Amino acid sequence: MSKMIVTGGAGFIGSNFIFYQRAHHPEDELICVDKLTYAGNLETLAPVMDDPKFQFVRADIADRAAMDALFEREKPDVVVNFAAESHVDRSIENPAIFLETNVLGTQVLLDACRKYGIGRYHQVSTDEVYGDLPLDRPDLFFTERTPLHTSSPYSASKASADLLCNAYQRTYGLPITISRCSNNYGPYQFPEKLIPLMIANALADKPLPVYGQGLNVRDWLYVEDHCAAIDLILRQGQVGQTYNIGGHNEMRNIDIVKLILQQLGKPESLITYVTDRKGHDMRYAIDPTFIHDELGWLPQTKFADGIRKTIQWYLDNRPWWENIINGDYQTYYERMYGHRG
Ligand code: NAD
Ligand code: TYD
Repeated sequence: MSKMIVTGGAGFIGSNFIFYQRAHHPEDELICVDKLTYAGNLETLAPVMDDPKFQFVRADIADRAAMDALFEREKPDVVVNFAAESHVDRSIENPAIFLETNVLGTQVLLDACRKYGIGRYHQVSTDEVYGDLPLDRPDLFFTERTPLHTSSPYSASKASADLLCNAYQRTYGLPITISRCSNNYGPYQFPEKLIPLMIANALADKPLPVYGQGLNVRDWLYVEDHCAAIDLILRQGQVGQTYNIGGHNEMRNIDIVKLILQQLGKPESLITYVTDRKGHDMRYAIDPTFIHDELGWLPQTKFADGIRKTIQWYLDNRPWWENIINGDYQTYYERMYGHRG
């Protein structure tokens, strides 16, 4: 039995991870720490809010006093850090908040772990720290030994956090692991990211904005497979180790958009090519050999099944994303919890 702090648990992957933990390790205590930025939606966590082994704490990971008080009070055994500013386009518009949350926030958590002691600190990172690969070299993949070579303020902030984690492991002996995953998709993804944005626009018969020519390639992994990999790393991974997570599922953006239109019975005439993202990474591709050989991890969900389930989830849960699009979700916390003090 252990007590785990999950930061960023009101976001996409963090909430899926909380559900995964509840289902697979009901004996563990979970504390979700989330600032509830625009990307955090407490409504997502409604199914676990009344669980006696679950606690929600609204706090900023970069708030040192708040983190110290939390660690002193709760004495967690494990910290899994999902909390981050996560959208590349926003990082291009406003890099500062990415450094505050992703870099300084990570440092505050690492300091709290040093001060109060920790069994394991796990940093949830991204394949974007490796930069990109050219389209004409399909033989190249990111391994754990690929040098960091970032493109966007987002990826630079995530790489900085990874370097800090390694520094704290080497210098202070903090028991750290890092995972670098490829693009996730699945339920509860905020509708600013490619797949949910395209589903929402297609359902509203609005234009589908494809950046550049839509030829950029991403390596897509169903979110539950990512959660299973992190869980395995926490329980069986080697301290000090970095694990790449990905399922060899490379797709061009334009092919994903066409697939979504086809599954929703909408016309390709909705596709609109728009100005490319600045510094747009061409291709991401993970080599997951190490996590497979070391921990026996393999993705369970094929893309054809995962995308069908994901589209169905967005069809079945329209209020969840419609509330986000119309802004109602931002008042949910005050409505539900404001009077609870
Ligand atoms: P998300 O944007 O959906 O969720 C982020 C969550 O963090 C939100 O609930 C937000 O309120 C919270 N948060 C933001 N700043 C905070 C702060 N200062 N203090 C406390 N909470 C804060 O992101 P996501 O897609 O779920 O990504 C989660 C993690 O996984 C991130 O670290 C991201 O870099 C990493 N990652 C994401 C992907 C992907 O495809 N989405 C792939 C690989 C790695
Ligand atoms: P995104 O979901 O933002 O993830 P990331 O940039 O972290 O990989 O974008 C995935 C790909 O889709 C990326 O190549 C940019 C592209 N894209 C579009 O073409 N149109 C859009 O509206 C969005 C949000 C993304």
